[in-house]
Amino acid sequence: MTTQKQILVTGGAGFIGSHVVRLLVNNYPAYQIITFDSLTYAGNLSNLKDVMDAKNHTFFKGDITSEQDVKAAFEQHQITDVIHLAAESHVDRSIEGPMEFVHTNVVGTVNLMNQARASWKELDGHIFYHVSTDEVFGSLGDEGFFTETTPYDPRSPYSASKAASDHFVSAYYHTYGFPVKRSNCSNNYGSNHHPEKLIPLMINNILNKKPLPVYGEGINVRDWLWVEDHARAIDVIFHHGEIGCNYNIGGWNEWRNIDLIHELCKIMDEELERKPGESAELITYVKDRAGHDLRYAIDATKLFDELGWKPSITFEEGLRNTVIWYLNNQDWVKEVTSGAYQDYYKNMYNQR
Ligand code: NAD
Ligand code: DAU
Repeated sequence: MTTQKQILVTGGAGFIGSHVVRLLVNNYPAYQIITFDSLTYAGNLSNLKDVMDAKNHTFFKGDITSEQDVKAAFEQHQITDVIHLAAESHVDRSIEGPMEFVHTNVVGTVNLMNQARASWKELDGHIFYHVSTDEVFGSLGDEGFFTETTPYDPRSPYSASKAASDHFVSAYYHTYGFPVKRSNCSNNYGSNHHPEKLIPLMINNILNKKPLPVYGEGINVRDWLWVEDHARAIDVIFHHGEIGCNYNIGGWNEWRNIDLIHELCKIMDEELERKPGESAELITYVKDRAGHDLRYAIDATKLFDELGWKPSITFEEGLRNTVIWYLNNQDWVKEVTSGAYQDYYKNMYNQR
């Protein structure tokens, strides 16, 4: 049994990873938290600025697909556990270039597990926690929910790569007795969310009076969860979930895209003291995403019944907090939307 935890959090400089690192650093002073991140366009050390220099936090710049980088991190920090979030995470980018997703999400995950197996002499007492997505289950119609036993049916290159990584994690458990835990979560929102994703993109465009690009008819449904509640769920599962088990995490909070965008416009009109309805005039219907999944909805009953987790705040509170965070953190927004983002935006949206 290991007593002192030295947890490698991959992707810790990204959106969800930074919230996981912050929670662990603040709540577990006896643990050493090692953020492992290669700082792609989606990783940003300013996401960690309040915990970066904490006594129980270290940053390691490395690539999960590099045997050398991962080995060095394990050796230098005597890693006892891994919480694995590093990934290419944006569906639209996966449609443009799938191979990067295969490399990072599949090869990277297997490379991490191989190093953990090589380093952990006895597997007992260690945890490899794989953070995954509800998109692996495919697309729902108007009825029903994804449960832990829903068959996999990924439909985008992103979700196919996450599904493949989930299968490898499960295969390592069954084949080698490797100590894995996994969770599949719905759409997150909150601070430090990259403005390539729906909610921050809309907030930024409303602020700058730019068109609000709604894919297709805007009738696709997503189940939104406050990112800090996802981090709390990961904490609970990491500490109390069963080895070899998977848990679904969701907000019981389904919204059609168009309704959510109207809600954001309303909040922004209020916060910016615009006349009611002004921001909604920016709504522009554009060409749909290829293979656009209609509806995701998570049944998180297992997590609630077995481990007592449930979301802590309402969507109304969370969405307004998020809008206010973006309005108050325009330096962060400018940093992540300069340079390469402008090229990305032109390529992605001019062709729609
Ligand atoms: P993100 O894109 O914001 O962050 C990804 C992080 O991984 C970045 O810091 C990036 O620099 C890092 N990274 C990418 N490739 C790397 C590599 N080769 N080596 C090391 N680091 C690398 O992603 P996110 O939205 O925070 O998602 C984190 C995880 O949670 C992903 O595995 C994603 O599939 C999963 N997930 C996301 C959501 C969501 O709504 N965002 C929902 C469910 C599950
Ligand atoms: O369900 C969990 C997944 O949620 C995560 O695994 C992914 O990493 C994360 O990116 C997210 O995927 P989505 O594709 O659901 O998120 P995105 O913010 O890209 O899009 C949300 C919805 O909004 C989707 O139906 C597409 C639509 N959309 C998106 C953008 C960026 C638009 O209508 N216009 C846009 O400009």
